[in-house]
Order: sequence, then structure tokens, then C-alpha cells
Amino acid sequence: MYRYRPYVPERAVEYIKQVLESGCLAGTCENFVRKFEEKLSEFTGIKHVIAVSSGTAALHVAYRAVGVRPGKPVAVPGFTFVATASAVLHCNSIPIFVDIDRETLFVDLADLEKKLKKYNIEHVCVVHIGGVPGPVDEVAKLCEENNITLIEDCAQALGATYHGNHVGKFGKVSIFSFYPTKTITTGEGGAVATEYEDLASIIRRLINHGEERRYYYIELGYNYRMSEILAAIGVAEMEIVNILVENRRRFAKVFIEEVENRVSDFVDFQKVPKGASPAWNLIQIMLNIEKIGKSRDYVLQRLRDEGLQVFTVAYPMPLPDTPLFRNMRGISDQCPWKCPLNRIDIGADVFELPNCRWVCERVLSLLVSPAFTEEDAVKIADIFCRVIRSITS
Ligand SMILES: Cc1ncc(COP(=O)(O)O)c(C=O)c1O
Repeated sequence: MYRYRPYVPERAVEYIKQVLESGCLAGTCENFVRKFEEKLSEFTGIKHVIAVSSGTAALHVAYRAVGVRPGKPVAVPGFTFVATASAVLHCNSIPIFVDIDRETLFVDLADLEKKLKKYNIEHVCVVHIGGVPGPVDEVAKLCEENNITLIEDCAQALGATYHGNHVGKFGKVSIFSFYPTKTITTGEGGAVATEYEDLASIIRRLINHGEERRYYYIELGYNYRMSEILAAIGVAEMEIVNILVENRRRFAKVFIEEVENRVSDFVDFQKVPKGASPAWNLIQIMLNIEKIGKSRDYVLQRLRDEGLQVFTVAYPMPLPDTPLFRNMRGISDQCPWKCPLNRIDIGADVFELPNCRWVCERVLSLLVSPAFTEEDAVKIADIFCRVIRSITS
């Protein structure tokens, strides 16, 4: 039976004990929180890193800090985790969904360009799905030429680089998640990263109730701080982050080679753009369902029957197909749909994303555990190929 498992080193227990014994679990001391932030900054090469309570919280304050508000729609891909778009709603603004490229699963440049003009968009968020960097330089160029702010959702991509730069360095602000399936984990947790000092101080204020000085609040903020106990786990994880990334890379290399050598007619892997070094939180497999003659869900069930619980579907439907976003067409009386400041005439093009739909129908996602070995990769590939062959023969 293969199940996803995070890897947390023994050291984490020692560090948690230190926190408990210190009597300072959160608030003024923030010893481990600061250490964790420093380690993340050093690892990513991004100057300011602010640890927060989740990747979703990170997105919310990142959007707020760069000026997302009612009347300022944000372009996001239709194929991503809900938080990329729901955090826009939390700013009382509207996500404008953009189609993706079928090979890289990154935002489609032509559709993005069209929608930037049509909806007068000032903010774009891109997502490095599975930890595979998309061609973010092209989007960065487009944004720069049009004076648009780029945000990078690197929730799944800590450790991934593109032409030698860590992802998250291309946007004005970027975010990471430390949920257990991510490159490193703190259980729940996230971080915001930026090169800009002014943005960093806005973000620090927003995660701390909008407090400018003790008990003096200048804007609506949140309690999104990370606790010392979680940061203690984070510090232990960062001490072995290179090993965690390398393990995933080795696993992905062996698994992909094994599968491509045997059942290449029936599957395509997410394309890794030139110059990209993925962090492989997920291996995204596009099934050729026409040739296989069965649905993706049928294949998934067969794999699970064989004990491969590591397979899942990220994601089974484009976000704009879910009721939360469908309702943006205006059935609610509440913000953001009907805020007086926020009247945006949303066209069908925000909901009809043919490439997202095509991918959602056939994508199968392998959760890559940092605890897996190359031997595990061979065994999982063997079972995978056997299942595909038995369905197609
Ligand atoms: C692409 C993406 N964005 C944002 C998030 C939100 O992160 P969290 O679960 O830490 O809130 C996730 C987490 O699954 C994600 O995959």
C-alpha cells in the first residue's frame, strides 16, 4: 500500500520541546518564527519573508498589500486550488479566470493578454502547479509592459527554480504553503515573500490586526501570525530542505522514465519548460482517455484498488464551474458580486475555459512523498503500467 507521507525530522521534536520549555509560545519573543523566516529568505533569495498561519492567509494579505480591492479584478488561472481565487473574494474583489496551456498547465498567455485589456486588470496571479515552474518570465514581461502587478502563487513550489532563480522572485509578491503535501510542512502554515521593504511592512501589519504601534490600529487586519511551535517544525524542515527537494526530484525522474518507456502512448506528463527545475509536489499525468477507452475516474479507482493511494485528482473541475464562483454571475446581494464599487460586467469567457476543462477531464495526480525512494518509484510505476496495460489490452 502506497500512501502519501510527509517527512518531519527528529530535530522538530527537540525544537518543539525548546519552545514549550521557554514559556513563549507566540507573540513577543518569536524566536523560531524569525529563524524560520531567515532560513526561507536565504533559501529562496527573496529579501523579505513573513511567516503566516496558512498559504490562504498569505494570499489574502499579499493581495491586500498590492492594492486588490472592490473594483479591481484579479486575473487567476481556472485550474488551481480554490485559495488562489477565494482570497480575491476575501478582498471583496472578483477573480477573472484565465485559461491554461494544455502542456505546461500554466496560464495561457494569449487568453491572459485578451482579458487584461477587456477587464482592465491591474493584478495577475500565476500558479506553479505541482511545483513545476511555468514560463513566468513571459507573463512578467507582459505585466511590466502594461504596468500590471504580478503575484506568484508558489504554494506547491518551494525549491523550484526557473533559469536559476527561485520561483517567487518574478512577482512583486509571492506566497508559499506548508500544508503536509508541500515541499516542507509545518502542519498548517504559509509565507509571503517580497523584495520590497514597504510591502513587507504592510504585510507584517496586516497579519497583526493592522496594528501600527501597540494597540493602535490603522487598517482592518487579521491574526494570521504563525505560532512558535509551528515555526519550530519549520526550522527543522528547512535544515533538510535540499534533501527533501532532491528526494522528490529523484523519485520523479525514475517514475517518469519508467512510465514513458512502457506506456507512453497512453499518457503525457506536465511539460517542464526549458530552464525549469521543478520541486515536484505533484506529478501531473494527462491520460489519453480516448485511447484508453475509459474515464479518468475509472483508471483512478483501478489504481487505488491496487493499493496506490498516492494518486488523486488535482483538480477535477475548473474553479469557475463550482457554485462559489458560478454565483459571481450575480445571484447574491452581498459583496463582491453586487458591491456598489464593484460592478464588473463578467462575460462568458470567464467561465468557458476549454483547456482547463480538457485537463480536468483527464488529469491524474501523483502525490510525491519526500519519504519515497527510487525503489518506490519503480514499484509504483510497475503497478501503474500494469493497470494501464490491463485496461487497454
Ligand atoms: C496552489 C495553491 N494555492 C494556495 C494554497 C493554500 O495553501 P494552504 O492550504 O496552506 O492555505 C494551496 C494549498 O493547497 C495551493 O495548492
